[in-house]
Amino acid sequence: MLVLGVETSCDDTAAAVLLDGRTTLANLVSSQDAIHGPYGGVVPELASRQHVRHILPIVEGALQKAGIGLRELDGIAVTRGPGLVGSLLVGLSVAKGISFRWDIPYVGVNHLEAHLLAIFLEREISFPYIALLASGGHTLLYRVRDFGDYLYLGGTQDDAAGEAYDKVAKMMGLGYPGGKVIDQLAKSGNAKAIAFPRARLKRGTYDFSFSGLKTAVLHYLKAQGDRWEAQKADVAASFQEAVVDMLVTPTLRAARELEVERVVLAGGVAANSRLRERMREETERGGREVYFPSPLLCTDNGAMIALCGYHRLRHGHRDDFCLNADADLTL
Ligand code: KG4
Ligand code: ZN
Repeated sequence: MLVLGVETSCDDTAAAVLLDGRTTLANLVSSQDAIHGPYGGVVPELASRQHVRHILPIVEGALQKAGIGLRELDGIAVTRGPGLVGSLLVGLSVAKGISFRWDIPYVGVNHLEAHLLAIFLEREISFPYIALLASGGHTLLYRVRDFGDYLYLGGTQDDAAGEAYDKVAKMMGLGYPGGKVIDQLAKSGNAKAIAFPRARLKRGTYDFSFSGLKTAVLHYLKAQGDRWEAQKADVAASFQEAVVDMLVTPTLRAARELEVERVVLAGGVAANSRLRERMREETERGGREVYFPSPLLCTDNGAMIALCGYHRLRHGHRDDFCLNADADLTL
């Protein structure tokens, strides 16, 4: 079964072709980082305009790379939410257009579900697993029991982890998006140099909170005046260590308390080198296993959408042309 996956929920225009739910024939992403960079965050109107410009070349490019024509597709999967409504509508309209013109079934996909399943693009793992989804828009913890069976365990009470990275990077003048830059800078810094606070959340919950940490970094930078420039790497490493602590602790507590043997990371922040290192060390210590997709499959991509759609299409699911984008779609 050949499935085209289309993703335009935020600021990446992406398309992929997936064969039988396991072989990625093409996975193309056109990033808008350079457009939004000067603003320090995604500007919704600019994002949707860029999607309009890039979506057809990206879809055509993916089909070409896969060596197939539109007529050979067995299905189309497209993100229908959550995300920016103007961005979502671009992908959804293109998917509907192709579906209508070539009489190919299509399904709308939940972007969060696609992240949780992205690991299957690279390897088979057994259910259940604890999935930590940490991106620019979300920080969520789920117990994944099967395809389509997700139990919400907790989420951020304020900023998402990636948002905290992006905001701190902005404060430090490091550009947007900030995760990768801070990750890199932190490698030459001392993570114990500055004792940034870790949020303490209500006992028994698996929630997260990053806004206190972000404010603490802001106060620190202000108090230091010009001096912090000389210890940029230490600020980055100390901030990152606090984020990683706050992601690792509830995730591993959930795995322990719910007696789940496997942990899966997903979302842009799952590409973080220190998070991967700490998760690996600490899951191994507890006799558990941790899995992370390669960085291209952690961030937004069309292959994970195609995979998610494949499972729905395989079970006979079809959407009609009344399907709308849902900016606040939950799982
Ligand atoms: O999943 P994603 O591509 O888009 C959303 O759905 O948000 O995630 C993007 C987020 C950004 O906030 C970015 O700063 C963060 O992921 N990110 C990272 C790293 N690479 C990307 N954060 C920490 N370390 C990284 N290496
Ligand atoms: Zn995402």
